[in-house]
Amino acid sequence: MNKVLITGGAGFIGSHVVRLFVNKYKDYEIYNLDKLTYAGNLENLQDVENEPNYSFIKGDIVDGQFINDLFGTHKFDRVIHLAAESHVDRSITNPLEFIHTNIIGTVNLLNAAKNQWEGDLEHKLFYHVSTDEVYGSLDDGGFFLESTPYDPQSPYSASKASSDHFVRAYQNTYGLPIVISNCSNNYGPNQFPEKLIPLFINNIIHEKPLPVYGKGENVRDWLYVIDHARAIDVVFHRGKPGETYNIGGFNEWKNIDLIKVLCSTVDSKIGRKIGSSEKLITFVKDRAGHDLRYAIDASKIMNELGWEPSLQFEEGIRKTVEWYLNNAEWLLRVTSGAYLEYYREQYQNRA
Ligand code: NAD
Ligand code: DAU
Repeated sequence: MNKVLITGGAGFIGSHVVRLFVNKYKDYEIYNLDKLTYAGNLENLQDVENEPNYSFIKGDIVDGQFINDLFGTHKFDRVIHLAAESHVDRSITNPLEFIHTNIIGTVNLLNAAKNQWEGDLEHKLFYHVSTDEVYGSLDDGGFFLESTPYDPQSPYSASKASSDHFVRAYQNTYGLPIVISNCSNNYGPNQFPEKLIPLFINNIIHEKPLPVYGKGENVRDWLYVIDHARAIDVVFHRGKPGETYNIGGFNEWKNIDLIKVLCSTVDSKIGRKIGSSEKLITFVKDRAGHDLRYAIDASKIMNELGWEPSLQFEEGIRKTVEWYLNNAEWLLRVTSGAYLEYYREQYQNRA
């Protein structure tokens, strides 16, 4: 009952989930399976790597034989599946990678769990961590509910929607005990600087242009990553098998307004005139098929499971900026080499 496989544990959200579980559940054996793509970084877990209840396994969820053998060897009881290709812009450039990892990788894990758990489903759980992007894009009104029909708009969200469907299909067809959560945009320490908040913090620090897509009017609903990890803990332990839970912070921000908060927060921390970094804002060609607005109604997880966000946004942003300033070496290491090539390709023709 206590052998827990966490996939993608070296990534942004996964590393916070691994840390929480390793520290909080000393009687669990936590196995972190990660391929260590550009987004995976074992430095994120240095503080728990020697804990006796933690093991790291390097491996690729796309390799079905390897995954099946791994379940046979370790006999995991429960799975929290986070491993994925997660960046929308990369999915626009290379959709196939997303199909391989997000769809085939998920089905490989489902098959291995089904094979391993056949005939004994008691205390077993396959928890799939997904995104609010599967619901598509909202205009100015309304929220995503668990009952909102799927309407994914990007190759990333289409691949996540597909993986959600497979997870539900394995419950319906084979009786696999599953649970799914769909979360809004996360921010916080250890996020790879391809996503809006860490990319812009890094660029503000180095006085580089801030490439705002379109007019900066798109809206996202931001949640501090540790609050997401707390929600995953709650869904994992108290979620009802077969159910879906939306997770979000009731915290909507227009990109341009959020970017101004980032500018003033970094300015104040590094002694620049507050707001002076706004001069770096550069409006660039919009993202293809750019979803206008995401907004989660998180009433179900709040009312049924008693979860709620613990941090106000301003405090979360302050902590996040401080983390990036205090971890300049981490930032430097992940923004060298392949990152520079990625950055050039993503942004060179956008002006
Ligand atoms: P991330 O890109 O930071 O990390 C992904 C991790 O998965 C990395 O450690 C990477 O090495 C690993 N990985 C990728 N391909 C793999 C493979 N083939 N085999 C094994 N490991 C592989 O992603 P994240 O932002 O931490 O997101 C984690 C999960 O949460 C994803 O499933 C994502 O869809 C979902 N999610 C993310 C957000 C967000 O705002 N970041 C919001 C909601 C849901
Ligand atoms: O909603 C949950 C999703 O949030 C997760 O499932 C994804 O894994 C995660 O990447 C995130 O997707 P977004 O596309 O919303 O996040 P991103 O940080 O890429 O972009 C946030 C907003 O900022 C979006 O409207 C696009 C805009 N943007 C982004 C970048 C990277 C810019 O204006 N300029 C940029 O350079």
